[in-house]
Formats: sequence, structure tokens, C-alpha cells
Amino acid sequence: MKAISYARYGGPGVLEYGDVREPRLGPDSVLVEVRAAAVNPVDWKCREGHLDAILEPVFPVIPGWDVSGVVVQPGAAVPEFGAGDEVIGYVRTDVLSHGTFAEYVAAPVRTLARKPRNLSFEQAAGLPLAGLTAYQVLYKVLQVKRGETVLVHAAAGGVGSIAVQLAHHLGARVIGTASERNHDYVRSLGGEPVTYGEGLAERVRGLAPEGVDAAFDTIGGETLRVSANLLAPEGRLASITDPDVLDYGGRYHFVRPDPEDLGRLSELAEQNAVTVHVSETFPLERAAEAHRRNEEGRTRGKIVVTVGGQDRS
Ligand SMILES: NC(=O)c1ccc[n+]([C@@H]2O[C@H](COP(=O)([O-])OP(=O)(O)OC[C@H]3O[C@@H](n4cnc5c(N)ncnc54)[C@H](OP(=O)(O)O)[C@@H]3O)[C@@H](O)[C@H]2O)c1
Repeated sequence: MKAISYARYGGPGVLEYGDVREPRLGPDSVLVEVRAAAVNPVDWKCREGHLDAILEPVFPVIPGWDVSGVVVQPGAAVPEFGAGDEVIGYVRTDVLSHGTFAEYVAAPVRTLARKPRNLSFEQAAGLPLAGLTAYQVLYKVLQVKRGETVLVHAAAGGVGSIAVQLAHHLGARVIGTASERNHDYVRSLGGEPVTYGEGLAERVRGLAPEGVDAAFDTIGGETLRVSANLLAPEGRLASITDPDVLDYGGRYHFVRPDPEDLGRLSELAEQNAVTVHVSETFPLERAAEAHRRNEEGRTRGKIVVTVGGQDRS
């Protein structure tokens, strides 16, 4: 099958398009014909070797953890899915080896859920990793409630754009940080935009003089410090980028594959509580450009790699 792979850590130039062997199908996995795979910052962080201490690579590595596609064959012990089912997945496995930037992926059943019927394959591919992160942080870690005020950083990005929609759906008031060019976009998601950088604390205080009930940090460092200072008494803090959040009494979260959470997210998409904005698509053979674009740090919504040509979507 055709896939993107890399034989060593490095820049986008290490990504090669070519033939690799098809994945083996374990008894509790599902062979999925990939229609689309979204790009996440973790893809290029892995490619550059930044996760080497916590994730064993088996080279050549096929990158990509997000997928939407069609079931070709369920493993022998998978009654949950049948051939032809449309699925989405956050296909994170215990070693870095067989990702989703390929024509086929063997996805453990615990990583999958049904694809929301109302989203295209491109949109659906952007939901699992970013959506699960936002869902798990807002619903489980921060436990956001109706009427609360929530601060979401990088509100125009992959995680932030879904977090703003989910927090809004929960009945919270959402303040989202973004550059000026993304303010209308953040408003369209249900958030009140504020520009980040110098003076951020004052701008947020202007909107929420009593402080915020919950803050969702996706940046770390100074942004985390400012967020901790903006909390109302009893306010909760979570970060997905900076374990120093623990020093502030907050929680660090690393997104987990969870079929129930992913199924719930799929339902929320079908109820139009959450959607995915796809800012750019690239065919599989141009995946290096997709990585490069995401590394610029300015992605609005999601960048998606499409697999197999338009005739199938
Ligand atoms: N621990 C976990 O489980 C987990 C899960 C998912 C993601 N992450 C991490 O979380 C981070 C965000 O992920 P993502 O997928 O949302 O990334 P992304 O989609 O690439 O984020 C891009 C967005 O970041 C915004 N941005 C850049 N600098 C900013 C700043 N200083 N303040 C506010 N917004 C800023 C940009 O907005 P403008 O263009 O308006 O500047 C852009 O819309 C990454 O570091 C990623 O690795 C961790």
C-alpha cells in the first residue's frame, strides 16, 4: 500500500511517500481504509524526536494518529464493527510505528467510534484527537458547568476551536484567546475573543472582573502563569502542554483513546453541538507540506490529508 513514512527523526524532509507492507490485523483491531487523516502538532513533535523518551519508535514510522475511513475487515474478536461501516479514530498505540498517513490502518477497537453522518470524511478526521482532548479536559478534568466562565487558549486552533464549542454547549460563557484575524471565527464558535500577548491579563479581567471559573491552557509557560492568576477563588486549571500546571494546583492531561468518549463526541457532532472547520487539505503524497503548515503554529481549525482521491469521498 502507499503511505508516508520516515526512517529517522528529522524535519519535514524525512517524510517519504512510497510503498510499505499492509498492516497485520490483530484479533481486536479493525482494518480501516483511510479516507482522511488530520495533522496534529504531536505528529511533527514525534517526527522530530521530541517524544522519544516516552514513546518507542519502530522505524520506518508511518505518522498520524487521527483517521476517518471505512471498515474493510474487523478482527476476529470485534463484533462492534462490520465491513463498510464508516468510522473515526484516535489511533494512538503503545509504540510509534503504524499511523494513519497510509491507505490502510489496523486500528485497535478501543480507538474507534462511528463517524458522525453529517460530517465529511475530511471534517470527521479532524475530530478524534483534538475533540477527545477538548472533551476530556472540559467534561472530566475541569468539569465545566452551566453559567461558569471558561478561558480557552488558542481558541482558533484544533483543540481550542472544539473546546470553545463544547464549553458553549455546556452552557458556559467562553473567553477565547486568538489573534485579531481569528476573532470573527472565535465568535462564530460561541466564544468572546481576546488578543493574546502583552496585556492579556488586563483584557480578560475587563471581561471577567471576578476571574474565571476554569482555564484551559494549550500554550504553557507564561500563558499558564497568567491563567493561574486569572482564576476566581476555587477556580480550576488544566494544561495539555505544560506539566508545571501541577505546581499551580492544576491538572496536566494527555489525551487517551476512549471509545465511549469518542462515541459521545460523534453524537455531539450529529446534534450540531460541535463541528470541525477544515482550513486546508493536502493529498497524501504532499503530507510534508501539511506538517510544515501546521508547524507554523497558525492553523485555524484543522489541516487534513486526504487519501485515495476524490472519487471515493
Ligand atoms: N496533552 C495532550 O493530550 C494534547 C492534545 C492535543 C494537543 N496538545 C498540544 O496542545 C497544543 C495545541 O494543539 P492544537 O492542535 O490546538 O494546535 P494548533 O491547531 O496547531 O494551534 C494553532 C493555533 O494556535 C494559536 N496560537 C498560537 N500561539 C498562541 C498563543 N500564544 N496564544 C493563543 N493562541 C495561540 C493560533 O492562533 P492565531 O493564528 O490566532 O495566533 C492557531 O489558531 C500543541 O502544543 C499540542 O501539541 C496536547
